Amino acid sequence: MHATICNMIIDLVHNSIEAGATEITLKIEEKDSNLSVVIEDNGRGMNAETLTKAMDPFYTDGQKHKHRKVGLGLAFLYQTVEMTHGTVAIRSQEGEGTTVRFNLDPSHIDLPEFGNFAQAAVAMISHGFEGDLTIEHSVNKKSYTANKAELIEVLGDLSEMESLILLKQFIEENEKDILDCEAIFPVIHPEIRNQQSTIGNFNERWAIYGKNDT
Ligand SMILES: Nc1ncnc2c1ncn2[C@@H]1O[C@H](COP(=O)(O)OP(=O)(O)OP(=O)(O)O)[C@@H](O)[C@H]1O
Ligand SMILES: [Mg+2]
Repeated sequence: MHATICNMIIDLVHNSIEAGATEITLKIEEKDSNLSVVIEDNGRGMNAETLTKAMDPFYTDGQKHKHRKVGLGLAFLYQTVEMTHGTVAIRSQEGEGTTVRFNLDPSHIDLPEFGNFAQAAVAMISHGFEGDLTIEHSVNKKSYTANKAELIEVLGDLSEMESLILLKQFIEENEKDILDCEAIFPVIHPEIRNQQSTIGNFNERWAIYGKNDT
């Protein structure tokens, strides 16, 4: 099991980077009773066969890891979803890209800690991959957006220590602002328990793993 949900998110963004994506969007929407995460990329995507296999926790493409035959990124996500009765769906089109979306119940006793998202965001934005990354993080009604290309324009090369410090400050200030003393996982309100995320258009065909009531 991954230590935190942030670790899991980093792994999924890493999958997009490994798929050669030049545009990655990460949307995290925290509501009182629902944590919704969507990672969308324009990487190489998967054909129907690979997509089916990728839903199998024991699948990896066989190239990355010479000494193990299982991919762990998605496996941890499935495990968490299964243990906490969440939902996960993947949509992928070969040559066009992939979208991974999951919903988790913040109040579930088996849910791993969320983790330090400021740290995770800095790591993802300052990762040296060629493409662009946009992060949208909302907690109830407050939100902020961080775009890698725009940040580089303002702060300069993110491999420079000074720029990194400014990036860290920018992210931490925004995180503090949206969290605003609310707990990351506040007490659950039963009346909005089944409220679903409004992120993205999910009416298209999705490969669904586990329960999905959208
Ligand atoms: N965003 C994506 N775009 C294209 N293919 C993907 C994407 N995410 C996952 N895959 C495919 O699904 C497979 C399984 O992914 P998973 O993250 O579980 O394992 P892995 O990336 O192979 O290994 P690990 O995460 O342990 O380094 C990948 O090898 C890749 O073929
Ligand atoms: Mg992976």
